[in-house]
Amino acid sequence: MTAKLIDGKAIAAAKRQNMKAKVALLSRKGLVPGLTVVLVGENPASRSYVRGKIRDCKEVGINSQLIHLPETVSEEALLEQIDRLNADENVHGILVQLPLPEQISEQKVIDAIRPDKDVDGFHPVNIGRMMTGQDGFIPCTPAGIIEMLKTEQIDIAGKHAVIVGRSHIVGKPAAQLLLNHNATVTICHSKTRSLADYTRQADILVVAVGRAGLIGADAIKPGAVVIDVGMNRNSEGKLVGDVDFAGASQVAGLITPVPGGVGPMTRVMLLENTLKAAENALKRANHAAG
Ligand code: GUN
Repeated sequence: MTAKLIDGKAIAAAKRQNMKAKVALLSRKGLVPGLTVVLVGENPASRSYVRGKIRDCKEVGINSQLIHLPETVSEEALLEQIDRLNADENVHGILVQLPLPEQISEQKVIDAIRPDKDVDGFHPVNIGRMMTGQDGFIPCTPAGIIEMLKTEQIDIAGKHAVIVGRSHIVGKPAAQLLLNHNATVTICHSKTRSLADYTRQADILVVAVGRAGLIGADAIKPGAVVIDVGMNRNSEGKLVGDVDFAGASQVAGLITPVPGGVGPMTRVMLLENTLKAAENALKRANHAAG
């Protein structure tokens, strides 16, 4: 059997195309959606991610601004910068690229972002809203995963979803979102014993660990939907996921490639969240004006 490919790159491109019209409409109403990305230091991966985000914004007509601070910036100075962005009405979304240097508490920084500008969906208020099924911002990678499943018309309700990885950015929110869509959810992590015993039971398998080759063909249920969030460089310097793609695609029903699967979806969901933040700001302004 050969699995069908879930083409995240194509799904994301179609969504960006769709979004252009919405951004143009909003802009005609006098409101150009604005995203500010804060980058601290020179981490090459972070620099590359941030460049991609800025490029995406340009493509759909979202105003973007990059604030690049030195590696040595103090926590206080960064928090002051966030306060200024919180107060700036042209800034609808704020994203502080993680990781941050060790003199800065990531949690303090996340907590300082206004929840209605938290397009990463990392603020405790947004996490709480997601957990209680209320409207808010959903972290981009899990949101992108759900979007891919919807595009492929995969029924989530009643399915057994197994998540490998429990990070705040991917694993935990992905588990919660799948639960919100009525999946039966199992979360596995580095202390899980006999990992394959769990993954082999997954109708929907989400792998977000960061270890190439972690999941082989023998760890996958025939016909399963396999979502590979991993981004690793193999010994030849090639970008690969956490799943052995060649083996897994002989067993799975559907599978995301790396690259071209989850990555482009994460990026497009950031644009969606920024558009939503701008639309919400316009609604608040109209409401205040009566
Ligand atoms: N670093 C790696 N992934 C992310 C992300 O989704 N958001 C932010 N802010 N930083 C990241």
